[in-house]
Amino acid sequence: MNNLLRLDSELIWHPFTPLTGSPQPILVDSASGVYIHTHDGRKIIDAVSSWWVNLHGHANTYIAEAIAAQAKKLEHVIFAGFTHEPAIHLAQNLLNILPANQSKVFFSDNGSTAVEVGLKMAFQFWHNQGITKKKIIAIKGAYHGDTFGAMSVGERGMFTNPFSNYLFDVAFIDFPYPDKEQEVLDQFRALLLSKEIGAFIFEPLVQGASGMRMYSPAILDLLLSAAKKSDVVCIADEVFTGFGRTGKMFASDYLNEMPDIVSVSKGITGGTLPLGVTSCSARIVSAFTTNDFTKTFFHGHSYTANPIACAAANASFELLNKKECQEQISRIAAQHQSFKRKMQYHKNIKEARCQGTILALELKAEAESSYANDLRKKIYPFFLERNILLRPLGNVIYVLPPYVITNEQLNEVYDAIAEFLDTF
Ligand SMILES: Cc1ncc(COP(=O)(O)O)c(C=O)c1O
Repeated sequence: MNNLLRLDSELIWHPFTPLTGSPQPILVDSASGVYIHTHDGRKIIDAVSSWWVNLHGHANTYIAEAIAAQAKKLEHVIFAGFTHEPAIHLAQNLLNILPANQSKVFFSDNGSTAVEVGLKMAFQFWHNQGITKKKIIAIKGAYHGDTFGAMSVGERGMFTNPFSNYLFDVAFIDFPYPDKEQEVLDQFRALLLSKEIGAFIFEPLVQGASGMRMYSPAILDLLLSAAKKSDVVCIADEVFTGFGRTGKMFASDYLNEMPDIVSVSKGITGGTLPLGVTSCSARIVSAFTTNDFTKTFFHGHSYTANPIACAAANASFELLNKKECQEQISRIAAQHQSFKRKMQYHKNIKEARCQGTILALELKAEAESSYANDLRKKIYPFFLERNILLRPLGNVIYVLPPYVITNEQLNEVYDAIAEFLDTF
């Protein structure tokens, strides 16, 4: 065995990976554009943007140069009592594109913490005003991250079972499938009657980890409008859907109603460095704007607003705003749509769905659709053998490429999917 891999198996505990029975990880030497270059000389298409983070391709030189320049100038500084230009610029950049009511940003390190901060802001918003509104509503099937607050508002099951005694109470509404919208709206309104609901958290338009399940902006607008009428703080978890993934900059851009709090991460640095941001409206800020020290938002991380991560985010932001990148997003969306049309009636497909740069094909399976569905054991190696990285969510194959992918590369992925569907 390669010495590095031997050391890896001795020393490292990989995420979401059983410690026994898992195949050896693939040793990667470098990456460029959509390709991951492996130690054994393979070139693998990263068709899932490395856990949905990569926007402009791997080892993008423009971002790499911004990172290098920032690292030589100011690598990090405590963010309480000090500040710096990359963070201030990033705040401006973000507030220019986030829903218009957002007025301040709070930095953290990843998607889970961006959600955690959003939840804590919402809870303390009520606490600071001496109002008891302790309950929160979330949507069944949600995934908001792996910290305790984020787990509490996520789907309960295999992932959270060991911790179930430690998660706080959450009221879950059903997923608003097109034929269930009215029923879900009624469930939601019934919950709001209690007057104790303080917040509503949701992944706008696409629930990622539950299998790229998609729902309509119209029903989300109705839910948000009902929440607003009952004075409920609405938290949009745009960790996955942000930065062009759904075809617009944010999924919230498809809505008329605006969230009070927005959590972002993943694509924010173009997939180069960890960074989380939670923004909020002036109304949320107002509950913390007081001389009463005890009402401070006592939250922070050592690497809050790391200048190198902020510089990477600002560079990625510039690339994202270029006409070329916006055209790439529209092109991928159009390609996905046409592949979806071609495949949607395939005998092995239960449902094909598409939203912007996200394509999901739910395969017919004997067992219920879920992350643990055994079909993933067939799907993952089939594509890897063809040098394509597709990491299915159970029986859902999804394609979510970096925006720099060419049509030719996309066709290679589509052809392999078509081959799989004909043969499995
Ligand atoms: C919608 C959503 N929220 C939060 C998270 C957690 O992000 P992270 O893995 O960076 O903690 C994820 C991760 O997949 C996500 O999809």
